[in-house]
Amino acid sequence: MSKCIFRIAVALLICLPLQARAQLEGEAYYNDLYCQTCHGADGVGNEGVQAPRLAGMEPWYLKRQLEIFRDGIRGTHPADFQGSEMQPMATLLTDEGIAEVVAWVGSWPYVPAELTIEGDAAAGAALYRSCATCHGNSAEGSEALGAPALAGQNDWYLVTQLTNFKAGYRGAHAQDSQGSQMMAFARMLADEKAITDVVSYINTLAR
Ligand code: HEC
Ligand code: HEC
Repeated sequence: MSKCIFRIAVALLICLPLQARAQLEGEAYYNDLYCQTCHGADGVGNEGVQAPRLAGMEPWYLKRQLEIFRDGIRGTHPADFQGSEMQPMATLLTDEGIAEVVAWVGSWPYVPAELTIEGDAAAGAALYRSCATCHGNSAEGSEALGAPALAGQNDWYLVTQLTNFKAGYRGAHAQDSQGSQMMAFARMLADEKAITDVVSYINTLAR
């Protein structure tokens, strides 16, 4: 009996500091505003550093992107300038850290991004038909297909991503099965004008 109590006491002594440390690390993430340095104080994105809106992002999409950045599946192509800004930020995160960041970012209120792109939205509507299969008629996204909401995201960011998918700077990694699906569809957009047009149409879709 006393042996048992002794074991419990030892276990508590070992576990308590561990738990305290874990809690401290958790708080460090909550207090660490390093996401907002680039993504904006309110998380609505910052075109100056090409960091997109996070406020209102689907938790499952946020989680996957942080994981693939961390694991070097996204943001490691030598020509992916914007991705290479973000990739080292995610390498600091543990699984628990990611869960905490997702919960924290999830508490930021959604604010639609400012419109900056003007193209031929009518031409874009025709181009968007193939996108709707995965991203939804209102660009609301589909968790089942892994396709994020596009409506409400910074339009300049959508243009960069479509350009990068088309060029194979994003989505070409052997382990990026979701990105490679998207890469095939970005390649159906013939040129810069097609990209601007489809994004202009997405701008007309309210979130
Ligand atoms: C040094 C600036 C910087 C910091 C700090 C930073 N990011 Fe980023 N982040 C970026 C840039 C730039 C991009 C755009 C990458 C691209 O174009 O592929 C990005 C992209 C992302 C994306 C992809 C969004 C999407 O729609 O695909 C997510 C998610 C993200 N960041 C989350 C975070 C979180 C969470 C933190 C804090 C833990 C953070 N970032 C810290 C610069 C930063
Ligand atoms: C077969 C399904 C599918 C189709 C069709 C599709 N997408 Fe995607 N799209 C995805 C998936 C999955 C992702 C997420 C990739 C990832 O996790 O990195 C994505 C990501 C994106 C992104 C990046 C968003 C972000 O926040 O980083 C953009 C922009 C995008 N798609 C636009 C389009 C457009 C425009 C079309 C039509 C020309 C289209 N997609 C067609 C599945 C699809």
